[in-house]
Amino acid sequence: MQIERVYLGDCRDVLKTLEEHSVSACITDPPYNYEFIGHKWNDEEIKRRTCRARAKDSKTLVKNIPYGSGLAGGVRNERWYKRNRENILQYQNWCLEWGKQVFRVLKPGGIVAVFNSSRTVAHVQVALEGAGFYARDCLVYRRPSGIPKGLNLHAKLLQKGFENHDQWRGWHSCLRNEWEAISVLQKPLEQNYLNTFTKYEVGLFYTENSNGSFQSNILEGIPRDSSEDFNIHCTIKPLALMEKLIEMFVPPSSEHIVIDPFAGSGTTLLAAKNLGRSYIGIEIVPEYVQIIERRLMLNGHSQCRAENRALAIDGPENLPLFD
Ligand SMILES: C[S@@+](CC[C@H](N)C(=O)[O-])C[C@H]1O[C@@H](n2cnc3c(N)ncnc32)[C@H](O)[C@@H]1O
Repeated sequence: MQIERVYLGDCRDVLKTLEEHSVSACITDPPYNYEFIGHKWNDEEIKRRTCRARAKDSKTLVKNIPYGSGLAGGVRNERWYKRNRENILQYQNWCLEWGKQVFRVLKPGGIVAVFNSSRTVAHVQVALEGAGFYARDCLVYRRPSGIPKGLNLHAKLLQKGFENHDQWRGWHSCLRNEWEAISVLQKPLEQNYLNTFTKYEVGLFYTENSNGSFQSNILEGIPRDSSEDFNIHCTIKPLALMEKLIEMFVPPSSEHIVIDPFAGSGTTLLAAKNLGRSYIGIEIVPEYVQIIERRLMLNGHSQCRAENRALAIDGPENLPLFD
């Protein structure tokens, strides 16, 4: 029986209502700690920030992702580093909270694959290890492009009237960020792979590429999608990328459920549906749930059911801001 379900709510609450050992894999793309752990992680907040004069012409505003903690702005004094540190530990704790619930619902041997930035991925991994998972790999998703953020020293010196500016061409405060990390962790096996596989049919990776090569842990050459007009989500992952991950980590049958607790516009769920796997999605922003419903509906005949859950969340007002 195919399970197709989308919940509206905070995944930390919704996950608690799901059955233990019922899900085969979790493939998810949570907020990357760009300040938006709670319900303000949406386009309203982005609009608010892009309206601010200093962000209008900002090279640090990458597409429509706003300033993030530690990514830009602010005098680097003791307070800045202290708040930055507190923020990342708060993020790690938040990952631990949902990680424990994901651990509970996964079958033994089940994989959790979590996207994150190269800057924060270590914290995600430590949090998930704290939840009981053990680390298996870290995949590199090489994006088609990457825009350098941060300070261009030559331009800054020129702007401030330093005569030696030419000498510092090419010096920058960061590298071009061209990849995203996908932390891959596993719920402990029952004894060994074979035992776990024969009991739950999970625990192994599908490694055969269409050209016969063995699957590497670098995912590249994945084309961008042109998203539907109505999909206003600001961090949509390519469908082909999510399909690749589903093929790798979710056995090929509707008996196997993949969960995405940070569903966004539902790309993971759409990929699961295209590949005949069952899926459960959770998303905290009602408008995004509507987008998910529409995408799934357009892409097939089955009904997506949004279930309402109480929004009991810790808003970002409780989090320090760094920009
Ligand atoms: C990076 S986006 C996912 C985008 C998705 N991969 C796609 O292709 O559309 C993360 C999503 O997590 C949602 N979110 C943030 N905190 C949440 C929470 N506590 N529970 C459920 N969803 C949450 C945000 O609203 C956002 O849509």
